[in-house]
Amino acid sequence: MEKKLLVGITGASGAVYALFFLRKLREISIPCEVIITDAGKIVIKHELEMDWRALGEYAEKIYGEREIGAPPASGSAPYLGLVIIPCSMGTLAGIATGQARNLLLRAGDVTLKEKRPLVLVVREAPLNSIHLQNMLTIAQAGGVIFPAMPGFYNRPKTLEELVEHFVERLLQFMSQFIDVKGNWKAWKGLE
Ligand SMILES: Cc1cc2nc3c(=O)[nH]c(=O)nc-3n(C[C@H](O)[C@H](O)[C@H](O)COP(=O)(O)O)c2cc1C
Repeated sequence: MEKKLLVGITGASGAVYALFFLRKLREISIPCEVIITDAGKIVIKHELEMDWRALGEYAEKIYGEREIGAPPASGSAPYLGLVIIPCSMGTLAGIATGQARNLLLRAGDVTLKEKRPLVLVVREAPLNSIHLQNMLTIAQAGGVIFPAMPGFYNRPKTLEELVEHFVERLLQFMSQFIDVKGNWKAWKGLE
């Protein structure tokens, strides 16, 4: 069975990051399944003026947060890892405290327990001490906080260029763990 990357989309601002990330995964032939939270569906509509179902073009499957019996809820489903883009403070908190109350929180919990890569593209400003503590908890548990902080050093001329560069940087980071054929590379520190 071909291993797939799991992609979570929450109700944090920055739905465009998710869209560009999914497009890029398809471009480089990394198969993925997507979990979208209820709030994520609302923000996709608000920010991209598109229906979340349109993302089906880029994913092999799309799950809603209430599909708690779906494969991402189980450690026996061999996903490559989980990237949550964008990741809300609510989902960050839920994973940091092991709540597993919906499919995305459960998938985050499973990803950590199975020692697979978990990358949270968090977005909020300003950050309170609870947000910062939760990020530290995730980092200490083996996850990666990859904040939605695009760089300006390559002088983007458009919003598209800015987002494109950000998702390329994210994929460059992910290439430590997966190659373009979707095979495992050892999770940092466990080689
Ligand atoms: C337009 C819009 C933008 C939002 N932006 C953010 C954000 O940048 N960061 C954040 O943590 N929450 C943001 N929220 C709030 C979350 O959507 C809300 O806390 C939600 O309950 C998160 O649920 P989820 O983590 O299950 O997606 C935003 C909400 C809306 C409607």
